[in-house]
Amino acid sequence: MSYFPICVICLLFLVDLVFPKVCSKQDVLEYLNLTRNNEKFTTCRPALDWTHPTIVYFDIYFYGILSMIEKSQIFVPILWMSVSWNNERISWDPKDFCGIKSVILPKEMLWKPDLYINEIAEREDGPLNPYLYISHDGNVKMEDDHKIVSTCTMNVHKFPFDTQKCHITVSSINYSDKEIKLIPASNSSKATQVARESILTKGEWEFLNISVLLQNESYEGQTYDRIKYTISVRRMPLMHFINFQLPILFFLILDLASFFIPDRGEKLCFKVTVLLGISVLLLILNDILPSKSHRCPLIAVYVIVIFSFMLLSLLETILVIYLINMNTEQDAKGIQKSEEHNSDTDNRKTDINNRISDSGVEAPLESLMLKEIYSKESMNDVQLLQLILEELQTIKLTLVPNTLKAKTAQIYWLGMAKCINRVFFAVYLISVSLFLVFIFREWKVE
Ligand SMILES: *[C@@H]1O[C@H](CO)[C@@H](O)[C@H](O)[C@H]1NC(C)=O
Ligand SMILES: *[C@@H]1O[C@H](CO)[C@@H](O)[C@H](O)[C@H]1NC(C)=O
Ligand SMILES: *[C@@H]1O[C@H](CO)[C@@H](O)[C@H](O)[C@H]1NC(C)=O
Ligand SMILES: *[C@@H]1O[C@H](CO)[C@@H](O)[C@H](O)[C@H]1NC(C)=O
Ligand SMILES: *[C@@H]1O[C@H](CO)[C@@H](O)[C@H](O)[C@H]1NC(C)=O
Repeated sequence: MSYFPICVICLLFLVDLVFPKVCSKQDVLEYLNLTRNNEKFTTCRPALDWTHPTIVYFDIYFYGILSMIEKSQIFVPILWMSVSWNNERISWDPKDFCGIKSVILPKEMLWKPDLYINEIAEREDGPLNPYLYISHDGNVKMEDDHKIVSTCTMNVHKFPFDTQKCHITVSSINYSDKEIKLIPASNSSKATQVARESILTKGEWEFLNISVLLQNESYEGQTYDRIKYTISVRRMPLMHFINFQLPILFFLILDLASFFIPDRGEKLCFKVTVLLGISVLLLILNDILPSKSHRCPLIAVYVIVIFSFMLLSLLETILVIYLINMNTEQDAKGIQKSEEHNSDTDNRKTDINNRISDSGVEAPLESLMLKEIYSKESMNDVQLLQLILEELQTIKLTLVPNTLKAKTAQIYWLGMAKCINRVFFAVYLISVSLFLVFIFREWKVE
């Protein structure tokens, strides 16, 4: 008789072995009374005692930057967000359900904390993860992979050698810290390490670190917890340097080299072309930089100062050309004056004078006279000698004093122009080098 209960237990055990118990996750839901429209689970914060705050662990995994637009101050990171909390209404013993330890449910079946990102600029309508992961001890986990279009105040003072810090602040809208306690699941060093390992996009930006800060803000007598993530990224300056700063530097070198072009007209053309090249690059800059920033970006200073240097050198070239031309005009005037002086000499001399002034000062006088002489080959020697004498006297009378004066003036002005040119070149070279050293040092300073 006393063996009877033991036998029953043995029999049950045998039955259990031969026909093992079959469970489905639906059994768990039925046990919990968890149906789609059960308001008990969806409406209220799942705390049995309302004075117990729900502790919400929040974590962000940073995967990379989709884009970063300086002009509109938009920052689009790719983030994986994980939120977990405890639902006190849910618990089951896995032993009763053949070891089922977790179930996956659609999001709308349970209460979720109403977390939101303060910096968000645009709601995303991409597909979100529609499920919640629920474990037997009531732990609920919500994971989402987000492309967040957020605002970020970028400081482009040091563009393209800049480091940007963008914030992502997470808080609950409706629940104060008495109801929802937000806790960052990983600290700064962990978040940074995880992000370093999982970063996917290696575009223009180099990821530096993430810092995590738990803060609180007061609003209408309530305090709200919030977690502030600060993502620091550094721009990879190489492409901007190659596309922008280097060409400008090349233009500057070309401008410096143009001081050695002998033909002044060509030099002028060359300088104007270089200046136009720079102004095209200025247009590119306009596309990158925001129109309003706190401090003038160094790159704007760089371009504008180099542009002004080149403008100055262009103006200097014009001045030099003006000085030289003014002197030639004086020459022409001097010769005309001498013509007036010698108007009493006979017509043939004036004729020669005219030709001389026509053909400019440096025209080969000899060839002119030779032609004249050859044309009169038929004359006899005496006449020829007479003619040569006359010609020489004419030349002596008309040219020597005035040409000498003109020549000294020309030499003076040429010397002046050359001197101006040299001094300007030296000053230009020194100030450009000083400026470049200054600006690149300024760029490098942290
Ligand atoms: C489940 O809900 C039904 C009504 O919807 C109720 O009668 C039943 O007692 C509930 N069971 C549990 C375990 O809460
Ligand atoms: C939270 O507050 C916002 C408005 O501030 C409201 O639209 C929203 O429905 C509230 N959510 C909950 C769960 O109470
Ligand atoms: C950050 O968290 C890790 C474990 O997650 C821990 O080992 C480390 O000491 C923490 N660092 C700080 C500064 O708290
Ligand atoms: C992250 O990097 C920035 C820029 O280098 C630095 O200022 C900041 O102190 C760093 N933060 C942490 C937590 O290391
Ligand atoms: C808010 O945060 C400050 C420190 O940042 C802390 O001293 C204070 O106790 C917090 N207040 C509440 C209500 O948690």
